Amino acid sequence: MIIQKSTNPRISTFDPDNFSFGNTFIDHMVICEYENGKWGDVKVMPYGGLPFSPAMMGVNYGQACFEGMKAYKDPNGDVFLFRPEKNFERINKSAKRLAMPEVTEEMFLDGLKALVDIDRAWIPQGEGMSLYIRPLIFATEEALKARISNKYMFAIVATPAKSYYTEPVSVLISDFYSRSANGGVGSAKAAGNYAASFYPTQLAIEQGYEQIIWTDDATHEYFEESGTMNVFVRINDTIYTPPTSEKILDGVTRDSFIQLAKKRGIEVKVEPIAVKTVIEAQKNGTLKEVWGVGTAVVTSVFQALGYKGEKLMLPSLPAEESFALALQKDLVNIQTNHAEDPFGWRVLVEKKIMETA
Ligand SMILES: Cc1ncc(COP(=O)(O)O)c(C=O)c1O
Repeated sequence: MIIQKSTNPRISTFDPDNFSFGNTFIDHMVICEYENGKWGDVKVMPYGGLPFSPAMMGVNYGQACFEGMKAYKDPNGDVFLFRPEKNFERINKSAKRLAMPEVTEEMFLDGLKALVDIDRAWIPQGEGMSLYIRPLIFATEEALKARISNKYMFAIVATPAKSYYTEPVSVLISDFYSRSANGGVGSAKAAGNYAASFYPTQLAIEQGYEQIIWTDDATHEYFEESGTMNVFVRINDTIYTPPTSEKILDGVTRDSFIQLAKKRGIEVKVEPIAVKTVIEAQKNGTLKEVWGVGTAVVTSVFQALGYKGEKLMLPSLPAEESFALALQKDLVNIQTNHAEDPFGWRVLVEKKIMETA
C-alpha cells in the first residue's frame, strides 16, 4: 500500500457541529487501478478530483457499483467499523453481476482501515455521529463500445455523518414502477439501480409521499424494499421481512435486525409479504408498525401507506412499545461500543498511521 499524506489538510476547518453530510469529504481517499487483467497498488492519497474522459465506459454503459458503510467513534475515541466483511462480500457480488473484476480482501479491508485510521480525526463523536464510507468500483476505459471495459478504478471516499432520528414518513406502495426485475440486478448495488429509482420517487413526492415501497415487478402484489432500505412489517407481535433474492438487496442492517429481534425473543418471519395482507391488517387493527432499515439512517419509521389513491394511517405507538426503535437502539449500542457485542460485529480500527492533525 502506498500512503501519500495530504500536505494541505482541511481538518482544522471541520466543525463537527456544523457540516453538510455528503458534501464534506475527509482529507484522504483510496484509489486502486485495474489494467491488463490485474489490480495495481492501493494508494491512500489526498482527496480530490481525477481526470476522466466523457467517453469513460463507466458513465456511458453504467458499469459501476458501490457500497455504503460507517465507522463510529466511541466515548474513549476508539474507532470501529461494523461488519465490514459483509460489504466486502457484497461489493464483489455486485462486481460479478456487472462483469467487473472483483477486489481482494486486502485491497478492500486494508484500504478501508488505512483510510479510516489516517482520517480518524474527521469522525465526529457523540450520539448519531459517524463517518459514512463509500467504496466503489467503476469502468474507466475510454471507449465508446458497448462491451466489458478493460480498465477500472476501485476507490473509497468518506463524509462525516450525523443523526439517526428522522420524522415518521409516508410511503407510497408502488403499483406500476419496479426497482428490480426477475433476472435483473436488484441484488447488486449497481449505480444504475439508483438512477432508475429517482423518477418514480419524484412522482411519489409530487403525490405527497416521502418514499416508495417497491413491489415485485411481475404482479406488484408483494413488498420488496422501501426506497433504498429493506422493509419490515409488524403484525401483532410478529415481524416480517421478505427473503432476499436476485431482486432484493441483502442489507447488512436487515440481517442485523433479524438477529437482534431473535435475541430479544421477538418472532421473526422471513417470508413474502403480500400488500393485501398488510392492508387487511391495517383495516382490522393488527398492523402495528412498518419501517425501513439501512446503514444511512438505521431505521425510518412509516406513519402512512399510500395505495391506489387511499392513504392508510399506521398507529403512532409510544416509543417504548416500538419494536423498530428498540431494535434500532440495540444495533446502535453495538455499533458505537455502548453495549456488549455478542455477535462479534464490531471491528476495531487500530492506530497505525499518524493523524494528519
Ligand atoms: C436498495 C437498497 N436496499 C437496502 C439497503 C440497506 O442495506 P444496508 O443495510 O447494507 O445499508 C440499501 C443501502 O445500502 C439499498 O441501497
